[in-house]
Amino acid sequence: MSYTEFFEFKEHPFRITPDVEYFFASPNHMEALQSLKYFVDSDEGFLVLTGEPGTGKTITMRKFMNELPDTVEYAYVMFPSLEPEEMFRAVLEDFGFPIGENQTKNTLFSGFRDFLTEKKRQGKQPLLIIDEAQNLPERTLEELRILSNLETEKEKLIRFVIAGQPELETKLNSNQLRQLRQRITLYINLDYMSLEDMSKYVAFRLSKGGFHGQYPDRAFYKKLYAYTGGNPRLVNLAMERTLMAAYVDQNKVLTAKHLSSAAASLRLEKEKINMKSKFFLYAGFAILAAVFVAGAIFYYSSLYGKHQAETPAPTAPPVQEKKAEPKTAPVVSNILEEPKTVAPKKGITKANVLNMREQPDITSAVLAKLPLDTHILILLDRDRWMNIRVTVDGKELTGWVYGRNVEVEN
Ligand SMILES: Nc1ncnc2c1ncn2[C@@H]1O[C@H](COP(=O)(O)OP(=O)(O)OP(=O)(O)O)[C@@H](O)[C@H]1O
Ligand SMILES: [Mg+2]
Repeated sequence: MSYTEFFEFKEHPFRITPDVEYFFASPNHMEALQSLKYFVDSDEGFLVLTGEPGTGKTITMRKFMNELPDTVEYAYVMFPSLEPEEMFRAVLEDFGFPIGENQTKNTLFSGFRDFLTEKKRQGKQPLLIIDEAQNLPERTLEELRILSNLETEKEKLIRFVIAGQPELETKLNSNQLRQLRQRITLYINLDYMSLEDMSKYVAFRLSKGGFHGQYPDRAFYKKLYAYTGGNPRLVNLAMERTLMAAYVDQNKVLTAKHLSSAAASLRLEKEKINMKSKFFLYAGFAILAAVFVAGAIFYYSSLYGKHQAETPAPTAPPVQEKKAEPKTAPVVSNILEEPKTVAPKKGITKANVLNMREQPDITSAVLAKLPLDTHILILLDRDRWMNIRVTVDGKELTGWVYGRNVEVEN
């Protein structure tokens, strides 16, 4: 029996992959989502979304993409550290723009302009969404500005949403990117959740997963907040481990003890040093440590004094008799690191030309170019990429494609 069966979950409720089914509309996330929607309806050129790691940028954008009207034709690129030309090609690929052999950047650029003009003529609004942009070199970010110059006499052909961790803003403030900066009309920042929002978030995920157990109480949430600072990714990790610890304990009530062992196995004390409540945490630890040390000195000195009075012969220092608090809880499982696997299922490609690559990486070698409506077998569905098997010219090949360009057959 697994912990999902024990708690009668339909699925793991605290997966760390950004699954929009589990999107929780906290006031922060809702505001970000509404700003993104406003952006689409407006005439603005660039929107920048920033937030610390794990605050929910990717899941918010996925939710946004899911809710976009059909009139918006978008490409979503999420690759760290691409060179300008690689990024340009990744963008074209995601738009489903056919890239022929040996095409130069200039021909691609003018071809792309025609492609976008045609989209506009059909009443479509092209939108380019770049995630994880904090890792892009400045010269690649500058390339976006060059792409934004694509326009007809009347209007811009494409708009941009750029998301990334706070380093992105630092990059955008550099002198080299001042021209791009001038085009940014909307900034959104995602913050950590408040204690209240985090508590509702956890309860929401538990109930969505079909939890059959006792919901945590306020003291539990306070402790969880102290460990995670309201960072949703850390909350997910801590909750998953807490559920496992409760399962190992065969207890359907999630207790502070389960949470402590989860936090210890995740080394969460160290993580929370990065939180904005850093000062209070340090202060809290310092006070606790001082109280503990003072108490221990008092206790042992009195004990030792008593021992000496009763048995003057030397004994081992009593402090060694005290059992040390275990630093790490037993590791109960490593399932969090495992990719989201699926039983093989059938799919059909939905891009004009879909590159099948050796690795789930835009820079890895292309094994085959799959034409529209190619039948494939999906072996693994991992975040944005799918590991597939396909027969090309009578030969069976295995490789990786963008999941977004695949329609799964039921
Ligand atoms: N509003 C939310 N609703 C549901 N889950 C959320 C929400 N915000 C964050 N999460 C959860 O936290 C995890 C981290 O979110 P996400 O991957 O979107 O963060 P991120 O800001 O893109 O982080 P990074 O900067 O590392 O890419 C997600 O997998 C998701 O499970
Ligand atoms: Mg992200």
